Amino acid sequence: MAETQRLILMLLILSGKSLWTYSKVLLPDLNVTCIIQDDCVLPCSFRPTGTVVIHWYKQQIPVHSYYYRKDQFGLQNKHFSGRTSLFNSHIPQGNASLLLKRVKVQDKGRYKCYTSTRKGNQEMFVNLELKAPIQLVTLEMSDEMVTCTSHNVYPMPQVIWATEPPSAQESLENSTIRTTDHKGLFTVESMVRIVGNLSDRTYFCSFISADRSQVWIASRKNQEDITHEEGHPLSISCMAPHSLLNFSLTWTISSPAEQTLILKYDSRTEHMVNLWEGQAVLDQDLLLQGDGSLLLTKPDGEEHSGTYTCTFSGLQSRHIVQTKVNITVASISVDEKSQQRSWWSSAASAAFVLFTVIVALPQCLRQRDLEARKAPHRYNGAGLVEDGLCKDPNSSASFKVEKPGARCSRQSTQFKAQDEQSSGVHRSAESCNGTLGTYSEN
Ligand SMILES: *[C@@H]1O[C@H](CO)[C@@H](O)[C@H](O)[C@H]1NC(C)=O
Ligand SMILES: *[C@@H]1O[C@H](CO)[C@@H](O)[C@H](O)[C@H]1NC(C)=O
Ligand SMILES: *[C@@H]1O[C@H](CO)[C@@H](O)[C@H](O)[C@H]1NC(C)=O
Ligand SMILES: *[C@@H]1O[C@H](CO)[C@@H](O)[C@H](O)[C@H]1NC(C)=O
Ligand SMILES: *[C@@H]1O[C@H](CO)[C@@H](O)[C@H](O)[C@H]1NC(C)=O
Ligand SMILES: *[C@@H]1O[C@H](CO)[C@@H](O)[C@H](O)[C@H]1NC(C)=O
Ligand SMILES: *[C@@H]1O[C@H](CO)[C@@H](O)[C@H](O)[C@H]1NC(C)=O
Ligand SMILES: *[C@@H]1O[C@H](CO)[C@@H](O)[C@H](O)[C@H]1NC(C)=O
Repeated sequence: MAETQRLILMLLILSGKSLWTYSKVLLPDLNVTCIIQDDCVLPCSFRPTGTVVIHWYKQQIPVHSYYYRKDQFGLQNKHFSGRTSLFNSHIPQGNASLLLKRVKVQDKGRYKCYTSTRKGNQEMFVNLELKAPIQLVTLEMSDEMVTCTSHNVYPMPQVIWATEPPSAQESLENSTIRTTDHKGLFTVESMVRIVGNLSDRTYFCSFISADRSQVWIASRKNQEDITHEEGHPLSISCMAPHSLLNFSLTWTISSPAEQTLILKYDSRTEHMVNLWEGQAVLDQDLLLQGDGSLLLTKPDGEEHSGTYTCTFSGLQSRHIVQTKVNITVASISVDEKSQQRSWWSSAASAAFVLFTVIVALPQCLRQRDLEARKAPHRYNGAGLVEDGLCKDPNSSASFKVEKPGARCSRQSTQFKAQDEQSSGVHRSAESCNGTLGTYSEN
């Protein structure tokens, strides 16, 4: 160990001497930019003449050493432990480059590559810059604010807001918040307050990377709500804000409960998936010109009302158009239909009451007598009465009975309550006698 240290000391002294000797050939710093979490090569070369001593430092911190023809980790700072290596088989050719694995924000800085051979010593410097590219910018819109967010970015990007048609610059006063996570990456959130009428403007936010090599644009338009009578074709407009080369388009509809995909298209494969085949149409030729409007051929009030979202996703852009659509039932046919429905349901109800009184009630009463005699274990053709539970053997339907005798009167109240629900009526009838006959509203 003492031997090694003396050798290093000797080499350092020698290096100082030779630096003085070779000061004329001092090389300019190299600049290297790597992507956070990637592996990164810090280049360094020397004139190969026999054995070599290589030391990599970051400022004064030992990063990696090589002498006696092998890697030496004794002095390595633990920040770099397990993440460094040289290209050992290339060293005889004068390659002293350092491979630094899984680079972090903290690795940023100026590195020194020191090499020493019989012919002299050399120092080279490498500036390591790091970046985490913008992966996604999301744009959210509330009644008062538009917010753009991007996660895991480094270094801090610039944020620029704009609208189409243009707004007065002062109405785009933004407040940008930057937060740093434990890895040193930024979450950037920028907000502008909405002033005036929102529905006629598209908001754009651009995130520009610090080195200006990357621009990510998120944009959004919340269109005016549409109220439309059912049965008539409806076109919901969605225009791309600028020409897109490679893009995908999706249309979704959301109710408060869930979001459902309607259609998606990918310009690279020219493949369209339409889950509303026969109900919705999109013109592929117009789409390639940036018009992704959706045509509902015969909109239906219940099925087709909701919030429609059209999303154009490009290479580094995303444009969203949102439209609330309310398909109303045609006013005349509403009354007709509901009148018809109520006539049929009251007729059917009356028939069922009649049926219950004439057929079912006497049968139930007879059944009660039978049960009273056979207690405690009572069976009948349709139901098994056990622990006060009346069960139909062919269905999972059951309801609780406090007293066996209470069943029939209970049924009639249940029938009233479920007047409109044919399935409910059906089940309560079944629970007295499984083969009572079918009753359904058509
Ligand atoms: C490296 O970057 C610095 C500024 O950061 C610049 O002054 C220098 O000229 C660059 N070196 C090379 C070799 O490009
Ligand atoms: C050293 O070798 C590695 C691996 O082949 C290569 O990536 C690097 O560019 C080389 N560096 C120099 C300075 O030759
Ligand atoms: C938003 O904020 C940034 C920095 O805070 C500023 O450079 C920019 O001009 C502001 N305004 C707009 C309209 O983007
Ligand atoms: C917004 O503008 C549109 C058209 O410019 C207009 O039809 C609509 O009534 C306006 N809405 C409000 C809330 O002012
Ligand atoms: C578009 O996608 C194709 C196929 O994936 C690719 O070859 C082309 O470079 C892309 N163009 C742009 C502008 O990204
Ligand atoms: C849809 O329009 C009808 C008639 O204008 C209205 O009664 C109803 O509340 C609207 N529904 C929604 C969800 O806005
Ligand atoms: C009730 O189930 C039995 C056997 O599980 C079957 O034989 C009978 O046909 C079924 N009755 C009805 C009405 O489904
Ligand atoms: C149920 O109905 C069938 C056929 O109508 C009848 O044979 C059976 O006796 C009835 N069971 C009871 C308990 O009423």
